[in-house]
Amino acid sequence: MRMTVIGTGYLGAVHAACLAHIGHNVLGIDADPARAGTLAHGIAPFYEPGFDELLTRAVRSGKLRFSTSMADAAAFADVHFVCVGTPQLPGSEAADLTGIHAVLEDLLPRLTRDCLVVGKSTVPVGTTRAIARKAARLAPPGVLVEVAWNPEFLREGMAVQDTLSPDRLVVGVMSDRSDAVLRSIYQPLLDQGTPFISTDVNTAELVKVSANAFLATKISFINAMSDVCEVVGGDISTLSEALGYDRRIGRGYLSAGLGFGGSCLAKDIRAFVARAEELGAGASMSFLREVDLYNLRRRRQTVEIARDLAGGTFTRRNVAVLGAAFKPGTDDVRDSPALDVAAAVHRQGACVRVHDPRATENARAAMPSLDYLPSAEQACERADVVMHLTEWQQYRDLDPAALGTIVRRRRIVDGRNVLPPSRWLAAGWTVRTLGRALR
Ligand code: UDX
Repeated sequence: MRMTVIGTGYLGAVHAACLAHIGHNVLGIDADPARAGTLAHGIAPFYEPGFDELLTRAVRSGKLRFSTSMADAAAFADVHFVCVGTPQLPGSEAADLTGIHAVLEDLLPRLTRDCLVVGKSTVPVGTTRAIARKAARLAPPGVLVEVAWNPEFLREGMAVQDTLSPDRLVVGVMSDRSDAVLRSIYQPLLDQGTPFISTDVNTAELVKVSANAFLATKISFINAMSDVCEVVGGDISTLSEALGYDRRIGRGYLSAGLGFGGSCLAKDIRAFVARAEELGAGASMSFLREVDLYNLRRRRQTVEIARDLAGGTFTRRNVAVLGAAFKPGTDDVRDSPALDVAAAVHRQGACVRVHDPRATENARAAMPSLDYLPSAEQACERADVVMHLTEWQQYRDLDPAALGTIVRRRRIVDGRNVLPPSRWLAAGWTVRTLGRALR
């Protein structure tokens, strides 16, 4: 089938390449000529395992092309996936839908035949219905535009796998015809046995936002439990493991530490609360504010632990920060807890030297005042405190004895609770974590 993917950010680029991979003819549209050009050459504009090869193959096969022209989009296909971002509105908690509306205003009047517009971004509940009304207004006379919502659940670092082998496909539709079109697009995934949930558009929108709200809640829950563990001398990692064996609970999203970041969880729960308040259901969702506030508190707690280790002040202290990406497996630093903490430590007077295996370029652009070093060892030279903030495998593999000869003082904060404490303690380090009472 022929389809467009409008907006080739993280979600759109991966979605477009995956649609081409399962056999469709795809035209990716992006307003930014540099981005469209890079993708058209088969070059990934971000680090995502497996994406480079998929993109290159799809471009070489001729099944995936890119353009900046909405006229091309309208002429090319009968199905249009809208994948533009829905960031947090400045000065508000609500989602900014300007990007989606701009795409529709550009695309709809250019249509010459009936089509299906499918949204994939996270949007406030009610958006699809509003868009359908807009489509009816803006489409040329005689052209029927149907609208559906097909939320995407991909995780950065796992984006290709999550798209080609998703846990489930969810579509919100307003007609049997839209349902049938989406089923045929995803037929190769349905043949693999992927559960397909077809529902009304409001429910589909809610599935996405409630999935993220639930994951965020799980993380803040386990982090709150880690505070209690510290007080009573318990071990949060063992607690998570024991909880995880309970099939009703599951082990996922129970890793305690510095908390969640990235481009989705915090923004989505804020927008959800804002929308729930508009709908008069604010009281039901108010606990999500606590989830958000508690998550941000983790960052302050981590700074305080490091300051304590540094002797009560960061003035004239060298602090090594291991990790800048918001999680391992990505070069994304959007709302990165690691970078946020590094910046706070720097503001309080420390000389901060950061290492990240993938995200240095993005981190430097976002936070140019910090020093970035090409290796973890260089970042740790003469450090008074080492802060382990993004759990890349290479940091787990560090040799504490060797690192101990490089630093000024053997003091480390493990903000992700994954370094084996016994090895670090045996090498003479003072280890502090969020959730384990070690000294
Ligand atoms: C998330 C959702 O998982 C995905 O379905 C949605 O489409 C987009 O948002 P992503 O932002 O890529 O995906 O990251 P995810 O892997 O979910 O992790 C989010 C944050 O939570 C990261 O900062 C991670 O370090 C943190 N996290 C995750 C924890 O602190 N503890 C955990 O146990 C799991």
